[in-house]
Amino acid sequence: MSKKYYVTTPIYYPSGKFHIGTAYTTVLADTMKRYKKLRGYDTYMLTGTDEHGQKIQKIAQEKDMKPQEYVDKEAEDAKKLWDFMDIQYDDFIRTTEPRHQDIAQKIFDKLMEQGDIYKGEYEGWYCIPCESYFTKTQLVDGKCPDCGRDVKLMKEESYFFNMKKYVPRLLKYYEEHPDFIKPDYRKHEMINNFIKPGLEDLCVSRTSFDWGIPVLKDPKHIIYVWLDALVNYITALGYMTEKDELFKKYWPADLQIVGKDIARFHLIYWPIFLMALDLPLPKQILVHNWYMMKDGKMSKSKGNVIYPELLVNRYGLDATRYFLLRELPTSTDGVFSPEGFVERYNVDLSNDLGNLLNRTIAMCNKYFGGQVPKYNGHKNDVDEEIETFAKEVTTKFEQKIDNLEIANSLQEIWNLVSRTNKYIDETEPWVLAKGKDKEKLEACIYHLIENLRRIAILINPFMTATSEKMFKQLGIEKEELKTWESLENYNEIEDTKVIEKGEPLFMRLNSEEEIEYIKKEMKK
Ligand code: ME8
Ligand code: MG
Repeated sequence: MSKKYYVTTPIYYPSGKFHIGTAYTTVLADTMKRYKKLRGYDTYMLTGTDEHGQKIQKIAQEKDMKPQEYVDKEAEDAKKLWDFMDIQYDDFIRTTEPRHQDIAQKIFDKLMEQGDIYKGEYEGWYCIPCESYFTKTQLVDGKCPDCGRDVKLMKEESYFFNMKKYVPRLLKYYEEHPDFIKPDYRKHEMINNFIKPGLEDLCVSRTSFDWGIPVLKDPKHIIYVWLDALVNYITALGYMTEKDELFKKYWPADLQIVGKDIARFHLIYWPIFLMALDLPLPKQILVHNWYMMKDGKMSKSKGNVIYPELLVNRYGLDATRYFLLRELPTSTDGVFSPEGFVERYNVDLSNDLGNLLNRTIAMCNKYFGGQVPKYNGHKNDVDEEIETFAKEVTTKFEQKIDNLEIANSLQEIWNLVSRTNKYIDETEPWVLAKGKDKEKLEACIYHLIENLRRIAILINPFMTATSEKMFKQLGIEKEELKTWESLENYNEIEDTKVIEKGEPLFMRLNSEEEIEYIKKEMKK
């Protein structure tokens, strides 16, 4: 039996068109799934929509729609977007589906039965868009600390979850599982900002609105949207049902990906809910940073929101995925700018990668009629060096991606792209072609083709179509030359013919025109 890999995205609020921030999380999960699949894992990816709550109810009302009608349409749009972006999710969970609602109710019931949930009264400062209560001290200038909007003092009869009881266990868990949270500094934030000041019991029901899942034994209460939402990761697998094969096979999740704004829910409450249910915790939770614009957060009112469709339609899916995954650092927020996008496209993709392939194909045609020479060892001074470099890059790449340093892992691949471009300058094949040393020329072209094959494999999880185009142009047809295992070897390409004329992978862009284009589209 092969090893399994279960990866999840947050379930998104269907509260409008998804921008590149939402797309980032999803593309990242999809990339990790593809990577693990290439490495032989039995993979499963879950995404979905978080459809309950006051905010959704309000949006539907404003549009003169029933909430259900509204979320049905939004969920369809979400699926369309993910299909358009070739996201290979295995399941899409919606919190309004009976398979989710029934189990969310049962979970609440179980937690109540065993005494983790109790009835009380809640008073606090509530932020409607964030659906979160805050204590007075948590407010920033009297506003919501997460989104900066106005908060309202509210009081209601509520059920509470006994968080305090689980704090020592949670801290112990953090300590004993140093890889549980990535990157590490997020764990310290949780401890210093939320746990040390004293974790409050969490209010887990509402009576102030009705768009949600009723508490089974007290239906005037609606299950708090975060408890409803978080359990999606297990209800989707059939937890607590008779058909729970998926749950048995895939839980605990291997990787759960969340943005920094929802770290608290996933790093504190979610593990505690799981402990209360006596379930194993996810092996790893990755908290990623945000894409910002030069003038701050993306917002419709500022007219600086960027949607994935704009980029994909004009520049292709692979360039969009490349940019998103390449520009967001692990330790700080990233910046989306039209200038940055066009530059990455022209420099990294069109110039460095695209031209490397093109020049190599052209030389292989010119000097060998397209027939890729056989491996003949180290003939040029730098042959040994470039082989070692290629293998080292592969190892470093694996270390970085396994450590969830996504942008850095792409950087490693591009180190190989640059090194290979430099190899052309060092060996000067056009000079070799004029001399008598045919063996050196053969070695040179072989090394170039081999490195491009390697690059095509490494980029496959990020840019699958580009990877396939590269294999095709290189004439690499045998499946065994496209596998991850084949990266162990450097000398296996035989009987291979490149295509007669290379096609550019990425057409060079006119920078000024495209920067203008993106800016104009953003304002629409
Ligand atoms: O939070 N850059 O849903 P959501 C990068 N329903 N990522 C960004 C971003 C940006 N500019 N803006 C948002 C929810 N995100 C809940 C989740 S899970 C049980 C329930 C990320 O639609 C954000 O960090 O608000 C989050 O991971 C997701 O996109 C949007 O979530
Ligand atoms: Mg949000």
